[in-house]
Amino acid sequence: DAPEVEVFTGAFWNDPYHAYAVLRATQPVREVRLPDGPLWLVSRYDDVKAAFSDPRLSKDWRHALPPEQRVDAPSTPIPMIIMMDPPDHTRLRKLVSRSFTPRRMAALRSRVEQIAEGLLDALPAEGVVDLIAEYAFPLPVQVICELLGVPAADRDEFGHWSSVMIDESPAEEKMAASESMARYLGALIERKRAEPDHALLAALAQVSDEDGDRLSPAELVGMAMLLLIAGHETTTNLIGNGVAALLAHPDQLVLLRERPALLPGAIEEILRWDSPVATAPVRFAAEDIEIAGTTIPAGATVALGVAAANRDERRFPDAERFDITRDAGGHLAFGHGVHFCLGSHLARIEGEAAIGALLARRPGLRLAVDPADLEYRHSTVVRGLRFAPVRVG
Ligand code: HEM
Repeated sequence: DAPEVEVFTGAFWNDPYHAYAVLRATQPVREVRLPDGPLWLVSRYDDVKAAFSDPRLSKDWRHALPPEQRVDAPSTPIPMIIMMDPPDHTRLRKLVSRSFTPRRMAALRSRVEQIAEGLLDALPAEGVVDLIAEYAFPLPVQVICELLGVPAADRDEFGHWSSVMIDESPAEEKMAASESMARYLGALIERKRAEPDHALLAALAQVSDEDGDRLSPAELVGMAMLLLIAGHETTTNLIGNGVAALLAHPDQLVLLRERPALLPGAIEEILRWDSPVATAPVRFAAEDIEIAGTTIPAGATVALGVAAANRDERRFPDAERFDITRDAGGHLAFGHGVHFCLGSHLARIEGEAAIGALLARRPGLRLAVDPADLEYRHSTVVRGLRFAPVRVG
């Protein structure tokens, strides 16, 4: 019999990697019972990668309903590409890709660096600070709000709504936060239509393809919301997990300080070794699906274990080892297939700017607590520190 390990509960939160190793070895597809219902977790690299492009694993939550209820159920209250299948997904992704270009992202790099420098200027010269609250969180919020064109005065509220929506808050609070954000964005988009600026929301409000297809007002709100949420919860954790990994591996930190050219590779290794999106947002089995000898029944909710897959020995030699000089290429931290992260360019730019500037400006940086006392958030999607008490200097 397979040994029982805790998944999404108890000791799992602070150290999921032991559980993932057991799952890969003994239960590569495991049914996890959660308060909201069962979740089928896939943990081996090859299986996760194949599942990302398996059309039988749908993003349409209606597959979870009994067939007779399915026809009348609304798709989603706020349309978001991350919850859609082709061809609807294809249509919207094509439209948004027109504004969300690598060139627009690259042009942002120097601004991202300025934002990082500004936040570092504001930290005390020495003493203990929470690096999440003072740096890893505000940086991506500021970047994504500037990119979209959300006025500076409204950003704190945004950060709050988005945290509530992704964290373990009660369902009613999540709903209320998402409604507040949707209302606010609806009004903001109206203003952008009337007085367009150079930011992304105005561009999205005007984008059309060769057939004249455009985003509807509801689709625009959904896209803006998705970009705001996806754009910062994840990147905060890339920065936080990255700093924590480097401080826990002093040899790697020294190496990176000596050879800053290793930074892009170090970011890839951070993404692989402690993936900020540990489990991809769920999919639903449109029919019975066999993976690694286990049949996932039609209607089941399926979670692709990105962080588990990225530590798979079958794919990455010495996978549990954090090594910034390795070739981490092929990691699944940004997903795979049609839903591959739209913001991967931006996320890499932010990770490099944030960690690069921090290491350059704060040579005395070290953890202010025992690594074993670091606490992680209880989310079935993201993996990230609640607080990162560090001594700056
Ligand atoms: C999709 C990870 C940053 C926007 C995804 C997916 C992953 C991911 C794993 C696939 C989800 C799935 O298949 O269910 C990450 C990580 C990030 C990051 C680890 C940071 C380190 C960003 C940023 C943005 C962004 C900065 C936007 C500015 C999106 C969008 C999608 C997505 C819009 C949905 C794409 C689609 O459904 O077609 N991301 N992301 N992400 N990401 Fe990211």
